[in-house]
Amino acid sequence: MSKIFVDACLGKETPYTPVWMMRQAGRYLPEYMEVRKKAGDFLSLCHDPKKACEVTIQPIDIVGVDAAILFSDILVVPNEMGMHLEFIKGEGPIFRDPISTQEEVDALLSGEEAANKLTYVYETLKLLKQELPEDKALIGFTGAPWTLATYMIEGKGTKTYNICKKMMYSNPTLLHDILKKVTEVVKYYLEKQIESGADVVQIFDSWAAAIEPGKYDEFSWKYMVEIADYIKAKYPHIPIIMFPKGVSAFINMGGVYGNFDVFGVDWGTPMAMAKEKLGDKYVLQGNMEPCRLYSKEATTMCVEKIQETMQGKRHIFNLGHGILPDVPVENAKHFVNECHRVSKK
Ligand code: CP3
Repeated sequence: MSKIFVDACLGKETPYTPVWMMRQAGRYLPEYMEVRKKAGDFLSLCHDPKKACEVTIQPIDIVGVDAAILFSDILVVPNEMGMHLEFIKGEGPIFRDPISTQEEVDALLSGEEAANKLTYVYETLKLLKQELPEDKALIGFTGAPWTLATYMIEGKGTKTYNICKKMMYSNPTLLHDILKKVTEVVKYYLEKQIESGADVVQIFDSWAAAIEPGKYDEFSWKYMVEIADYIKAKYPHIPIIMFPKGVSAFINMGGVYGNFDVFGVDWGTPMAMAKEKLGDKYVLQGNMEPCRLYSKEATTMCVEKIQETMQGKRHIFNLGHGILPDVPVENAKHFVNECHRVSKK
């Protein structure tokens, strides 16, 4: 059976425009909170394939999205490269041993050796492959090397990125060494996710907009292109979605468009602009402002506007970033239903 979501990623005509939501398996769902409580902390849930599989499927059954995204986190990669990861309630992720020297970079596990440690992710995908309805697609993912490096260098989320940027301008060789090392792990990581059952993979460059436009190619884009080239050479039928948050307005990719199928448009970029600049190169994914989910009317207005712009062609509905924990479940359902309603042919 063909999966509508995969067909849409590849630019094929589909009976309606498929939809999923970033962070769709998460705290706005009471069913998620129940499993999360049983698992203990967040990382224990990521490490438990049965429970991770269960929460991955929840939004398929409850809100009716067309694709399931693996339940995990982008930070399990630096964690398995040897950095100690904790999730602190109210503070988010923390590495207490951030990287600042060449010796620390050299001490990290590299390539396949690090990727091989992420067995719980591959086990979760294998279970999902059995459990997921045949018409629903399974999305694997990774963080982009730049976005992962920001956490590895800063040790936690940051508003200013000053430690990374100090390295970018005063010791770019060290930053590139970190990015290269992460890139190698991510190539194997995505490959193993595909071998374990992922139908599609997404690369999250959530902190793309922290880099000045003239430096984006050098410190992020080129590594994403390298990863995509590697994956496409081996798995040409597997769509790759790239989500560089906050840069679609200025992005010119240095003339290199890269082997991606889908470009995730963030909510700060008008869809019409993205369509004009990128629509013939990529299928576009997005891009409702997630806070519109607080109001059904605001949601409907936005879904209709996006549909009017995209006309159901080369498009996947999504939010322009992750869903927030206090969104009512029925509003999330409303979003999904509206995307299907306006795009049914
Ligand atoms: O449903 C899905 O989208 C799949 C699961 C997923 C999670 N994190 C689960 C999660 C995915 C794809 C991610 C990616 C991720 N993680 C990104 C990139 C996407 C983005 O949001 O920009 C980033 C930057 C992270 C790092 C991260 N993980 C942060 C900053 C936080 C804390 C912030 C918060 O929302 O609490 C996390 C924790 C996290 N990852 C949660 C979930 C469901 C919340 C943990 C909990 O249950 O308490």
